[in-house]
Amino acid sequence: MLNGKNILIGITGGIAAYKICELIRMYKRSGANVRVVCTPNALNFVTKLTLQNLSQNEVGIEEFTTENYKPEHISYADEADIMVIAPATANTIGKIANGICDNLLTSITCAFTKPVIICPAMNCGMWNNVFVQENINKLKHAGYNIIEPEEGFLACGYNGKGRLCELEKIYQKTENLLTLKNKNLAGKKIVITAGGTIEAIDTVRYISNYSSGKMGIALADCAYEMGADVLLITTVNTSKPYGVINVKSAEDMKIAIEKEFDNTDCIIMAAAVADYKAKDQLNHKMKKTSEDEISITLIKNPDILKCLCEKRAKVLVPSNSCASQKAPLIIGFCAESENLIENAKNKIKNKGCDYLVANDISRKDIGFSSDFNEVSILKNDGTVKHLERADKYTIAKNILEEIYG
Ligand code: CTP
Repeated sequence: MLNGKNILIGITGGIAAYKICELIRMYKRSGANVRVVCTPNALNFVTKLTLQNLSQNEVGIEEFTTENYKPEHISYADEADIMVIAPATANTIGKIANGICDNLLTSITCAFTKPVIICPAMNCGMWNNVFVQENINKLKHAGYNIIEPEEGFLACGYNGKGRLCELEKIYQKTENLLTLKNKNLAGKKIVITAGGTIEAIDTVRYISNYSSGKMGIALADCAYEMGADVLLITTVNTSKPYGVINVKSAEDMKIAIEKEFDNTDCIIMAAAVADYKAKDQLNHKMKKTSEDEISITLIKNPDILKCLCEKRAKVLVPSNSCASQKAPLIIGFCAESENLIENAKNKIKNKGCDYLVANDISRKDIGFSSDFNEVSILKNDGTVKHLERADKYTIAKNILEEIYG
């Protein structure tokens, strides 16, 4: 898959540096050309000779050498199709986020204009440090691809979030970014919703669901990387290089989408919208009573997806007043715990959308809160395409390629 691609790996001074030897092998095995650049501290954990032999290339460390007439940080940046910094220490993350270029690796990163993947690895206390988190958010906002560290036993003896993510994740992300078949979403405005809606009961309590928003966010990331003008409407707090509108309730979400309707090429409803909300939303904290049992009356929320499809159907009716209005493509999601395809087929008809992405939420290894998914894409012409279990970004890429391929 990576045949002929040029991958630049940046290694910084953390114990996980030793794992990158295997990552180099993975890239090489799939046909990529690999160059490695290290911070001086990285060489405390892995030798230059090892990296040189595995990558079959010179390893860059010093910024200024006399052997090459070209400025090295620029030539490294020009040659590579992608840069992968792993492990990335808090120190290097801080420098990149603040435009500091005090070694070859940070100078290359600053000059790099193609995709960059950053894989932080550090002690859990460092990862949670307020300034490290600020820097991470800054990088996310600027469009860097951050693969967050994982929870587990850390080399420093602590248990917590900080260990380098699985190498397979880094490999998969690299492959996805380098093989986005369809990069022609430039000029398309895509609105994507994500996360479970939050329906207030009173000022401190609410009804919601377990949706993490990961699928919708993966779709938004992928559409952005394919060149689309993306607007994410979500209940999840997230920092992104594209537009994000934070909402809480289904009602808020509906208003936010409807504002965009006329200027949108595509709407993807990946959010888990609550079907019901409390009839009376108290504007104070509800007090405990002497009763052992109480009830809250719920009333139906608007079915946003259905409303959007109905609105579009009106736009499509030939009429002089609306003739120039754009009719967006509308994609729904479908969460089912039984009879997935049968229910999905009914749902796509009932809602009136163009595609419906169906997933089985009864499975623990995919769906809600998981990093993975396995879906079937139903089209309104009755065809069904199954996508095997994969990480949500890969699923997102395949969905967008199915729609726009
Ligand atoms: N949806 C919506 N508004 C709602 C409920 C759902 O826009 N009030 C959208 C979801 O974002 C999703 C699709 O409709 O794209 C299907 O959601 P799902 O929860 O699977 O189905 P429901 O319509 O809620 O029906 P049910 O809960 O009975 O399966």
